[in-house]
Amino acid sequence: MKPAILLVAYGACTLEGRRVLAQFDLRVREVFPGHAVRWAYSSDILRKRLAGKRQKSDAVDKALLRMWFEHFETVILQPLQTIPGREFEELQADVARVVQETGMRIGVGEPLLTSEADIRRVASSLLQHLPLSRAASEDVIFMGHGSRHPAAVRYAQLHELVQALDKKVHVGTMEGLVTLDCLLPKLTSQRVWLMPLLATVGRHTLKDMAGCERTSWRCRLEASGHLCKPVLKGTVEHSAIAEIWLDHLLAAAHVPRPKTAKADPGPVCHDP
Ligand code: CO
Repeated sequence: MKPAILLVAYGACTLEGRRVLAQFDLRVREVFPGHAVRWAYSSDILRKRLAGKRQKSDAVDKALLRMWFEHFETVILQPLQTIPGREFEELQADVARVVQETGMRIGVGEPLLTSEADIRRVASSLLQHLPLSRAASEDVIFMGHGSRHPAAVRYAQLHELVQALDKKVHVGTMEGLVTLDCLLPKLTSQRVWLMPLLATVGRHTLKDMAGCERTSWRCRLEASGHLCKPVLKGTVEHSAIAEIWLDHLLAAAHVPRPKTAKADPGPVCHDP
């Protein structure tokens, strides 16, 4: 029996959010033909909200147990997470409990920014997905979640690498080392592009990044005299980034990238 695949997203409660995850699902099925592919949502809040709308979704442990009852003995799990932080640790704890309970074999793929090579690859991938109408002189800010977890240092490393490739592109986070306060003095263009460094567009993108409240990054940029252009596209929608998660899934399954798969575009220039 081929190992089954469990993809884990934070959650999606809009049609658009589900469309984006469905696209990644299709890509996974293309690379893993004939494998069962299931989804779990890690956010309790979103799962409750979906339950209120009578839409079913599983937490990670529940999805794994369901797969166990379906007689899958080996599962490869890939979280669409950005850093190996607290959420990843919670996921690993869930997996460990299920393994102990059932004896299932579960391989876990790494989050987007895990190794140094990942950080380099993400840096060049972000630059491949800048808005087409952005002039080279215009600043672009990627807004990440950030965390107090030690793994959050990867955001700062990503910021450095992106800066080495394009001085006008910045990576900041809502909490952590490089916040909007650190970036504001560096911006020189009147028009500033604002993009999420989050897998899918949700509350953080719509409210904290592009929202109308005074504390949103858009409003703070406007308050400091910039014209803000928010781009509502999560990182899983950027094909070069999605391929990194896919490679982590392939690594967890111990399979080399199939020859028919889309070639990895690779770094733009480099090494810094
Ligand atoms: Co949050």
